[in-house]
Amino acid sequence: MNKKKVTFQRTIEYEVISALNIFHPQNWALLSAGRIEDARRFVVVDANVEKHYSTAIHEYFDYHHVEAKIVVFPGGEENKTLDHYLSIAHELDSFPIHRRDEPIIAIGGGVLTDMVGFVASSYRRGVPYIKVPTTLMGYVDASIGIKTGFNFNGNKNRLGAFHAPQTVLLDKSFLITLPRRHLLNGVCEIIKLAIIKDAGLFHLLEIYGAQSVHSHFQDEKSGIILDRAITSMLEELEPNLFEEDLARKVDFGHTFSYGLETRHEAHLLHGEAVLLDILISTLIAHSRRLLTNEETSRIFRLTETLGISLDASILEPRLLHASLTERTYHRNGLQRVPMPRGIGECVFLNDINLNEIEAAVNSLENWITIKHEII
Ligand SMILES: NC(=O)c1ccc[n+]([C@@H]2O[C@H](COP(=O)([O-])OP(=O)(O)OC[C@H]3O[C@@H](n4cnc5c(N)ncnc54)[C@H](O)[C@@H]3O)[C@@H](O)[C@H]2O)c1
Repeated sequence: MNKKKVTFQRTIEYEVISALNIFHPQNWALLSAGRIEDARRFVVVDANVEKHYSTAIHEYFDYHHVEAKIVVFPGGEENKTLDHYLSIAHELDSFPIHRRDEPIIAIGGGVLTDMVGFVASSYRRGVPYIKVPTTLMGYVDASIGIKTGFNFNGNKNRLGAFHAPQTVLLDKSFLITLPRRHLLNGVCEIIKLAIIKDAGLFHLLEIYGAQSVHSHFQDEKSGIILDRAITSMLEELEPNLFEEDLARKVDFGHTFSYGLETRHEAHLLHGEAVLLDILISTLIAHSRRLLTNEETSRIFRLTETLGISLDASILEPRLLHASLTERTYHRNGLQRVPMPRGIGECVFLNDINLNEIEAAVNSLENWITIKHEII
């Protein structure tokens, strides 16, 4: 047989839109994509969001004469499972929707949008969906990219797909009811971006970070932080949506954290694991003279100012090293660990060893338990 080559290109396009009060009847944002005449919508809502907005959601769809099936999903990493994936798929299959013009609507944190995104990517080999993040983690990170999935076989996000949403609706008023620990969880991803690519954002966090957490990101200055974080994140994601380039700045804080999260899923949030990784990485970068004493101190001071509590007891060097090895498979044979070179700049390392990790863990444990200047 002659050789036949098949080539096809597809443009990925989606909008990230700021929209306040999305359940207000006069707000069309939720229905702006897809059919509205004689229409149906399959909506999955986080249980903690549903507590506050159940009536508003039902009234919204009733007002627009859209027949909506509202499925309530419990957030939390422990629910990012195959069983929950299947139960959402069952619910969807019993509520037929048009394949193209009745997008699934996902309203919740990163766990929910990742799960529902994967349902959308696999149901009929891909149906459209809209993401509405309700946590800070979702707002600045999980909702604005195209990765979906759930945890499998003791590994985070091991089964998943790239599936772009049709629209991402950012309504920061959801953050009003978000508990402080989950606000800080999202802040950790903003700190990541600031250190690895945006010195201006780092400075904003130094000045306005604590007050932004206090206001649940509702005041003017925190709006600037949110906008800048999203712009920075999209700058990184957009040219490399499918991760063809495996050396990604946004993987800063996502090397050692992987093993920590998997081992301590019950009591460690994603952002908390990321922050521990960031601090270990900062100490490695400092010992390699990629960061000065002053830059290293600024990073530790910021953590303190924001009042994020860290659990040092879980830092086992061998576990962190095993996580690095696992990530090396994920990154196709090289460590490709992003490291700051000065605040706001990035290099990639491929030769981190166990001794360096041990030394960094010792310093970090001292800092967390004794809480005084170590640098
Ligand atoms: N796809 C991506 O690119 C990407 C990026 C970053 C993180 N993630 C994933 O995101 C997940 C973490 O997301 P998360 O931190 O949002 O966790 P989550 O979805 O579990 O939400 C955290 C908690 O907040 C509650 N909640 C949600 N919205 C609320 C609100 N408005 N008010 C009160 N409570 C509310 C939830 O019920 C849950 O208990 C991880 O699984 C991580 O892998 C994905």
